[in-house]
Amino acid sequence: MDNLMEKLVSLCKQRGFIFPSSEIYGGIGGFWDFGPLGVRLTRNLKNLWWQEMVLKNDNIYPLDSTVIHNPKVWEASGHTVSFTDPLQECKSCHKRFRVDHLKGDKCPECQGKLTEVKQFNLMFKTFIGPTEETASKAYLRPETCQGIFTNFAGVVDSMRPKLPFGIAQIGKAFRNEITTGNFIFRDREMEQMEMEYFVDPKEDEKYFEDWKEKRMKWYLNVLKLNKNNLRFFDHPKESLAHYSKRTVDIEFKFPFGWGELEGVANRTDYDLKTHSKHSGKDLSLTNDKGEKVYPYVIEPSVGVERLTLAVLVDSYKKDKDREILAFDPKVAPFKAAVFPLLSNKQELVKKARSVYDDLRKDYEVNWDDRGNIGKRYYAQDQIGTPFCLTIDFDSLKKDDLTVRDRDTTKQERVSISNLKKYLKTKLEE
Ligand code: GAP
Repeated sequence: MDNLMEKLVSLCKQRGFIFPSSEIYGGIGGFWDFGPLGVRLTRNLKNLWWQEMVLKNDNIYPLDSTVIHNPKVWEASGHTVSFTDPLQECKSCHKRFRVDHLKGDKCPECQGKLTEVKQFNLMFKTFIGPTEETASKAYLRPETCQGIFTNFAGVVDSMRPKLPFGIAQIGKAFRNEITTGNFIFRDREMEQMEMEYFVDPKEDEKYFEDWKEKRMKWYLNVLKLNKNNLRFFDHPKESLAHYSKRTVDIEFKFPFGWGELEGVANRTDYDLKTHSKHSGKDLSLTNDKGEKVYPYVIEPSVGVERLTLAVLVDSYKKDKDREILAFDPKVAPFKAAVFPLLSNKQELVKKARSVYDDLRKDYEVNWDDRGNIGKRYYAQDQIGTPFCLTIDFDSLKKDDLTVRDRDTTKQERVSISNLKKYLKTKLEE
């Protein structure tokens, strides 16, 4: 199955989905750039998450906080002490390894001796202002949710929400991971989509179950991922993060094994209480019974890169010579591609161009007039375009075109006047 990862890495690069960051300088481990197709794909995924969280629920408020916070935030949250991975270093080649990734007590690279286990903090450090002193030290956020907790009072005071309510954010997060790899599965720079749902402490378990089920349904019914590729994993008590009462991961069957795609955590009142204590600002609320409470937090959190990898793996199909990314149309970078049958016949090009320009007002559509029609179909299958529309000589007489379906490869003729209606129905099926 590793073969599938190799195929995806190469397809993603060749077709403009994902490039190694700074590749002309030899790349930089754990950093990846999204190309023209990748940006469209990830934007669709982010929009679908946004629709699910913010548009569907009028009690979930959007937020966009900064990447760098006051360093006191990370002391209060526990990250400066607890956001660590145990590592061992090879005494010969000085490479560092995560203890849980090591199989024996010799270096997997050069068989050298390993040091004692050390704790390594995963936060990236930087300095604010012109001096590199301890006093100016700051961190790039390793998760987006702390910005939600530090803005909790601002949202409550301005929006006046009642429990339960949520705050949602999509943004960059950074982790100095010891070992990266598996393409975009574990990165040092990533984007998180996090929603913190604030509930009455007595209702935490009910809302936890609620969000756990809702999130699984999103993968199955909205993104239409294969149900055999998804499962829940309930974290045993001893492996829970310091803030968590319960965490269930939604796992995806990646080619290298089952891995966490999304975490749903019951963070209790840990965050609001610790920030109240450290900042001196009381972050409690009054519930509908007039009692002062520190709301509990239910948090579904997923990384854009990991979700993108899951969608790519789930969609990849090989059918004889065809390589297909069978994306759900909602996710596909282009909804349709438009071709003139022959690129040297001006009347075909002109008509195809007018169809393309008209569709472009409503959809992301692709234009292709290179090579023969077979090559164009091949290229569109590879990037997951659900429909290919070809203008041929009959189109000039009948004002119609052929629509070729990516999944069935069947073709049918559709009149141009009916095309938008036809596509709308097909794309929403
Ligand atoms: N606020 C909770 C939190 O950050 P997490 O389980 O550490 O929890 C949540 O991260 C999600 O973020 C993961 O389920 C995963 O999708 C994504 N994620 C975390 N670390 C990542 C990394 N190094 N590279 C890519 N995605 C990552």
